[in-house]
Amino acid sequence: MSAKLIQGTEIREEILAEIAAETAKIKEKHGVVPGLVTILVGQNPASISYVTLKIQTANRLGFKEIQDNQPENISTEKLLALIDKYNKDDSIHGILIQLPLPKQIDEKKVLNAVDPDKDVDGFHPVNVGRLMIGGSEVKFPPCTPAGIQEMIVRAGVETQGAEVVVVGRSNIVGKPIANMMLQKGVGANATVTIVHTGTKDIAFHCQRADILIVAAGVPGLVKPEWIKPGACVIDVGVNRVGEKISEKTGKKIAVLKGDVDFDAAREIAGWITPVPGGVGPMTITMLMKNTLKSLKFRLERAKA
Ligand code: GUN
Repeated sequence: MSAKLIQGTEIREEILAEIAAETAKIKEKHGVVPGLVTILVGQNPASISYVTLKIQTANRLGFKEIQDNQPENISTEKLLALIDKYNKDDSIHGILIQLPLPKQIDEKKVLNAVDPDKDVDGFHPVNVGRLMIGGSEVKFPPCTPAGIQEMIVRAGVETQGAEVVVVGRSNIVGKPIANMMLQKGVGANATVTIVHTGTKDIAFHCQRADILIVAAGVPGLVKPEWIKPGACVIDVGVNRVGEKISEKTGKKIAVLKGDVDFDAAREIAGWITPVPGGVGPMTITMLMKNTLKSLKFRLERAKA
């Protein structure tokens, strides 16, 4: 058996078309467009490529986009002042602080300083709490988990009553996706297990999974014998394992490998996401969706 590929690159186009259409309608009716600022501190290559893609996507959708680059040695206080400026700017509906931040920065303080109503990353404790409560409380689901759930739904994978196993307990992916999959509602209502570095027998749990979501950051961690035949395998790993020259551009690019042994896993799984081209493109797409949502919340508040 060869698994059906869940292509983030294709699903992205469907969702971006929906966002573009809604943005145009709002612009015509209210004369405003979603505004997004990205604060990038330093020159981390992975962060630069993420941010570049984000700018291209925002421009394509007709969003207002501000790219605010700051030096590696910026202080926490200066960063807090910058966030305060964007919190007060009515033309900005989303503030994204690209992670990781340099060591001298108090990351918790910085993330907590973002206005929860502009926290399109969904990292502020208020939004983490709203996600935990679920339902209509949720304003900004974090982008990668939201993208994963969207892929599962659009691929037609049954989640009601499914055994979902999440590998990894990060705040960005593992914990929020586990939380989202156990809520009542579409694309959820599953029985969820999280496995991590403290788990005694990771393989045992993975073998039970109808939906296996892997966000461990370990290239090729998941072996084919860990996968239940017909399962849906979502590989969130984006591991840089080397460099190569791009055939398209002639420039040096990173060689990426997922957390799943893809070639062997696709013979067993029912659905699988490739790396690259799987979950990766969904993160920026959901960031755009959250930014549009933020503007819509603002317009609703203005009406009330
Ligand atoms: N770094 C890696 N993933 C993310 C993300 O989803 N948001 C932000 N802000 N930084 C990241």
